[in-house]
Amino acid sequence: MKIVVIQGPNLNMLGIREQQIYGPMKLEQIHAQMKEFASQNSMEVEFFQSNLEGEIVDKIQECYGDADGIIINAAAYTHTSIAIRDAISAVNLPTIEVHISNIHRREEFRKDSMIAPVCTSSVVGFGPFGYHLAMVGMLQIMNEIKA
Ligand code: DQA
Repeated sequence: MKIVVIQGPNLNMLGIREQQIYGPMKLEQIHAQMKEFASQNSMEVEFFQSNLEGEIVDKIQECYGDADGIIINAAAYTHTSIAIRDAISAVNLPTIEVHISNIHRREEFRKDSMIAPVCTSSVVGFGPFGYHLAMVGMLQIMNEIKA
């Protein structure tokens, strides 16, 4: 089973940006933990980060026929990107949306997710641990598909 983890704009700045909101962990550390969980559970995992909307759309499209599921934190594009939403719809793969912070407890403009309605499920507000929850959730989704 192959999972692609897609990280949107400014997530490469984790550990530096707004630590009071996102915590001290760097993206590489989050990915290292996910990789370890994946290897313990016979999952293949690929990581991708981009600050560019079109590159994220391209990556989602590449998942078609290549991956079994997507874990995505579209970051600020969550709230604006019809293109990312359409790409998720187009590939029609199990997709879990992750947000490190609780987007519902922040500014008004963060409350709406363009992509949530086309995702299988969402994990918000657990900090970096949310990525681990998404991996566990993906395993569950895959088991349900197989059953
Ligand atoms: C975020 C929440 C977004 O509103 C914000 O633009 C981000 C990170 C999160 O993980 O909490 O860049 O997606």
